Parts: sequence; C-alpha cells; structure tokens
Amino acid sequence: METRLGDHLPLDGSPSSSAAPTLIGSVSTYDNDIEEILLSHEQIQAKVAEIGAEITRDYADRDLLLVGVLKGAFVLMADLSRHVNLPMEFDFMAVSSYGAATQTSGVVRILKDLDHEIQGRNVLLVEDIVDSGLTLSYLLKNLRTRKPASLEVCTLLQKTGVQQVPLEIRYRAFEIPPVFVVGYGLDYGERFRNLPFVGTLRPEVYRDAVS
Ligand code: IMP
Repeated sequence: METRLGDHLPLDGSPSSSAAPTLIGSVSTYDNDIEEILLSHEQIQAKVAEIGAEITRDYADRDLLLVGVLKGAFVLMADLSRHVNLPMEFDFMAVSSYGAATQTSGVVRILKDLDHEIQGRNVLLVEDIVDSGLTLSYLLKNLRTRKPASLEVCTLLQKTGVQQVPLEIRYRAFEIPPVFVVGYGLDYGERFRNLPFVGTLRPEVYRDAVS
C-alpha cells in the first residue's frame, strides 16, 4: 500500500504491517562471506519485541533515556525503541573497540561523549555485544559518576565464559558461544553491520584482510 503525505494512519501502524517497523530482507552482496547464521532475523525481531514489552512495563512510571553505544548498537537501538511504548529520549556515546582486529585490547577510549547531562535521569545503556565486558565495565563506571537516577544495561549478545569482570545486565537478548560474529550492527573492519541476522564469517574473509 502506498502511503502519501497527509494520509491518516492509525498510531499502531497497522495498515503498513506488511512493512514492519524494523529492518527487513537480506544483503546478498555478503552471501559469499558468511559461514553460518547463528541468529535469524526472525529470532532477533521476536526477542527484541519481547524485551521492548518488558522495558515498557519496567519504565511505565519513569522517564527513560536510551543511551546507545556507537557504532554497533545503532540497529538494536532503532528496532528496540520502536517496541517500547513510552515517551523516551536518545543519546549516544562512541567508544573505541577493536578497529579491524577481532581481539579486545582492553583499552577503552571515548570518541564521542553524551550530548546532555544524565544526573537524575533513568538511563538504559544499549550495547551490541558483551565479550570481555571491559568496555561495558568502563562505561558503567564512567556514567555512574554522573549520578543518574538509575542505570541499567540492554545488550543484544553476551558471549559465554569470556567475561573478565562481573557485570549486571538487566536485559540480554541472546547468549552466544565465544566466536566472532557480524551483522545486526556488528562489524568486521566496518563491514557487515547491515546484515539483518547475526552470523560468523568464513575464514577466508580474515585471511584476505591480512594478505
Ligand atoms: P568487550 O570490551 O571485550 O566486551 O568488547 C566490546 C566491544 O567489542 C563491542 O561493543 C564490539 O564493538 C566489539 N566486539 C566484541 N566481540 C565482537 C564480535 O564478535 N563481533 C564484532 N564486534 C565485537
């Protein structure tokens, strides 16, 4: 159905339900690079909707500020926020991650700080993945010093058995084995973020990158 400017659509978006308010489709240009799909687009969307409903319940009587950790969290942030049926505000931080490599350095650098103060705000930090946990641990410590009223974490993925620091994660969509993954915001050398699923890369992709 074509929607024109001035058309009056119900606020639940039902007439355009065939075009769900989420990323859809696949990105065939990467087909030869993907080894295995660990989490399908459908699995991710179902879980994100579930977490969105949980957040809607948990923050029903509080103001909510979503803080996305760039760049990886931008896809989750976009999808998740449209499943939270509450007024909310957005802010972003950017931190250094691995660059083009696949091992954590443990060194965290803030590349972009928040635009606004968070004192007294209910902050929900949105992350793409918790691997060693060092990035998140640093961010939480840093944000706590700014005295938010509450500070919770939502992450798409958490790798099992590799976390180096204890962390409390309020909302976690999936646990995955400690393998390097791409898609749904996650990159390898800045590529693959626009894949609608989470998957692993063929070994040749890493080999080609170093040769
Ligand atoms: P941590 O500090 O080791 O927990 O790493 C966190 C950051 O490393 C994430 O926000 C990602 O940017 C990056 N990262 C960790 N594991 C992966 C992965 O499997 N694929 C892509 N990026 C990853």
